[in-house]
Amino acid sequence: MIPLPKLHTRRLCLRAFSTEDRARVAALVNDPDIVRDLRTFDIPYTKVDALAWLETLQPAWEQGLAAVFALCLGHGSAAPVVGAAGLVIDTPSQRAECGYWIGKDYWRKGICSEALPALLDFGFNQLGLNRITAECLTRNVASTALLTKVGFTREGLFRRHFRKREDEPFQDVIAWGFLKEEWDQRP
Ligand SMILES: CC(C)(COP(=O)(O)OP(=O)(O)OC[C@H]1O[C@@H](n2cnc3c(N)ncnc32)[C@H](O)[C@@H]1OP(=O)(O)O)[C@@H](O)C(=O)NCCC(=O)NCCS
Repeated sequence: MIPLPKLHTRRLCLRAFSTEDRARVAALVNDPDIVRDLRTFDIPYTKVDALAWLETLQPAWEQGLAAVFALCLGHGSAAPVVGAAGLVIDTPSQRAECGYWIGKDYWRKGICSEALPALLDFGFNQLGLNRITAECLTRNVASTALLTKVGFTREGLFRRHFRKREDEPFQDVIAWGFLKEEWDQRP
């Protein structure tokens, strides 16, 4: 099996996570502002939770189900993990849904704006995807700005589609899409 490659941008290295990253991942994710709109994570988020998640990633890659990258700020071996970005893949449809989070200390520094194009390029040109989708809550202004900036098309609205807990109101979710041909034609 080909290992998940390393991808490089100006400031970032995107690499496979290792179980050694569990303490760092737990420290970054264990924050209500990170998990609020994410399906996969909740607080309290411990090193044990992080290890359980990290242990799913290599098998998911080997089975062609997902490609999840650690976002490291810098290019050396000591570059700290500052977030994650990945694709959940539907092979027959040549389609994937992307997801991402960045540790709060690193917000609004353009990190996800820099990582996402590298992830999309990998999806379209290495994995041979035809379409990459994203979903974000209407209240998530950061994710909405990010997806708009990167060039996703807003395709629709899932009304009252998501809630994290049963005692919360249902949230509307925006559906976004990016086609391979649009990726190839971008300026
Ligand atoms: C969404 C998230 C990944 C954005 O990451 P980031 O690295 O801070 O984003 P960037 O710095 O690249 O910013 C991208 C755009 O969003 C805007 N933006 C970022 N955070 C914002 C905020 N809190 N409010 C308004 N706009 C915001 C930026 O200004 C930028 O647009 P601009 O360059 O036109 O000004 C980050 O806020 C996060 O991890 N949130 C919690 C997890 C989450 O919600 N994940 C997405 C689920 S759909």
